[in-house]
Amino acid sequence: MICNYGNDLKEMVDQVRIHTKHGKLADYIPALMKANPDDIAISIFDGQQTCFSEGNHQQLFTLQSISKILTLALAIMDHGEELVFDKVGMEPTGDPFNSIAKLESHVPSKPLNPMINAGALAVSALIKGASTEEKLNRLLIFVRELSGNDSITYSKEVAKSEFETADLNRSLAYFMKQHQVISGDIDHLLDFYTKQCAIEVNCNDLARIGFVLSNNGKDSTGKRIIPVEVSRIVKTFMVTCGMYNASGEFAIRVGIPAKSGVSGGIVCAVPNKMGIGIYGPALDRKGNSIAGMRLLELLSEKYELSIF
Ligand code: DON
Repeated sequence: MICNYGNDLKEMVDQVRIHTKHGKLADYIPALMKANPDDIAISIFDGQQTCFSEGNHQQLFTLQSISKILTLALAIMDHGEELVFDKVGMEPTGDPFNSIAKLESHVPSKPLNPMINAGALAVSALIKGASTEEKLNRLLIFVRELSGNDSITYSKEVAKSEFETADLNRSLAYFMKQHQVISGDIDHLLDFYTKQCAIEVNCNDLARIGFVLSNNGKDSTGKRIIPVEVSRIVKTFMVTCGMYNASGEFAIRVGIPAKSGVSGGIVCAVPNKMGIGIYGPALDRKGNSIAGMRLLELLSEKYELSIF
């Protein structure tokens, strides 16, 4: 068990800390600029104990794109695979996460996968609930169950900051509405989407969420939270599209199903072994935590975690 490796984690974190200097905070959501770019933290949960290393593993940050795997799971649980994949595809794009290019060049213009913003918006539009509040409550209940943390909620400040500046996401949504991929009020959809992205967690919560996926949908008490098949689909998307247009390189260098967000979080599910939560808000050019990526590379190499 990795927790027995004493100071290894601390040494690895110390080793990668320098990389935070080469990254940048996400600035297109103004509230994310309040993060400390020097932060780097990790939690690992193996079903029995959580191990921490250096870094503030209690620091709260928003899920951002990590929320996309959770809404995907909930949408499939709400409607079944067939309906969801009628609205969104299964192929990686090789484009940045917020690109509009393939929506126009592909016919029909359904988004290529649920991990890019267009695909995530299409999935969010499917979450059951009569109002944004009801949808968000259902999602929060799900996240609390996955993490075992009843106090999880969302940051009103970050949600508002993104809602006020989300013109690119609005244009993706309007484009899809025009092409009948989604229907309904776009501002309501953006309201829900920006709140889902603003759900606040810490590294421990992420490690526990990752553990449920690693454990084929059951939490550490053996309670089933996600059907096996849904957990398999989510992990597969994490491998093929979870790190956007860095997914190929990440598969080679790290080889673990993972999903990143622009606030600097990364959740990993090492099949049948452990969940890992990373926080490092300084990002590389593709929007992934720069020190977090390096840390996972070291960890995977040292403990032979690659699934390949
Ligand atoms: O929609 C957005 O642009 C953000 N709320 C989330 C994007 C994101 O996290 C991409 N991750 N690397």
